[in-house]
Amino acid sequence: MVDAHYSNPDLAALYDVFNAWNCSPQDPFYLELVMAAGDALDVGCGTGKLHRIAREHGHRGRLVGLDPAGAMLNVGRAERADIEWTLGDLAGGPFEGEFDLVTMSGQAFQVFLTDEQTRANLAGARRALRSGGLLAFETRNPAARAWQRWTSEHEYRVRAPDGRRAWSVHTLESVEGDLVTFSTAYGIQGWADPGHSRSTLRFPEARTVNALLAGAGFEVQAQYGDWDRSPLTDTCPEIITLARAV
Ligand SMILES: C[S@@+](CC[C@H](N)C(=O)[O-])C[C@H]1O[C@@H](n2cnc3c(N)ncnc32)[C@H](O)[C@@H]1O
Repeated sequence: MVDAHYSNPDLAALYDVFNAWNCSPQDPFYLELVMAAGDALDVGCGTGKLHRIAREHGHRGRLVGLDPAGAMLNVGRAERADIEWTLGDLAGGPFEGEFDLVTMSGQAFQVFLTDEQTRANLAGARRALRSGGLLAFETRNPAARAWQRWTSEHEYRVRAPDGRRAWSVHTLESVEGDLVTFSTAYGIQGWADPGHSRSTLRFPEARTVNALLAGAGFEVQAQYGDWDRSPLTDTCPEIITLARAV
């Protein structure tokens, strides 16, 4: 089941307000990969900002956005018709040897909560890629403990393009093994009440990620600890992985 911040149309409509293009250095990092690829699949594409911007930059190949949240896809679809907006996930394996690049940006990889789910989705990514194709994704480094900042002191405030003020705040509920559960409240000027969502994300270590990749037919080509391509360290914020389909 998809979390409310993606399945609820009111919250999905707010996603781009909180995640405007270039609000994170992940955006130019992934855009460079998409622009260099012929045909690209974006898994957990959400509102599809990565492929929408790639089209704006003149990408001419096939661009497919895959997501199980129809409300998120509807936001993207309303912006551009020249992207294939596909409802679903990789575990169903709808694609066979069709892409040069598969991306999972915005920590979409962390929605896979067990080894079994991760294996099924990585197998789907491998099937979707042509031989030699690239899988690119990031997952937060568990050693950096990002969840310690998911408290009311770290309320996130932004202004929507129409000038309204919007805010979001996380409340940490539990940390059990590598699973972190939290809830998020969202508001924007004009709403009588905040919207709520509850999520669990997995924070796997790099060695777990790499073992799962090897088992699914991938060879790690590069791994970075941050968007400036610095190496993995004990405290780096991200585990950013580029893996080749072998
Ligand atoms: C944080 S958003 C990232 C959206 C986009 N990739 C970005 O960078 O802005 C995570 C997305 O993963 C999607 N998602 C949830 N479960 C999924 C699954 N099993 N397979 C693929 N995507 C999933 C959600 O619906 C949501 O759109």
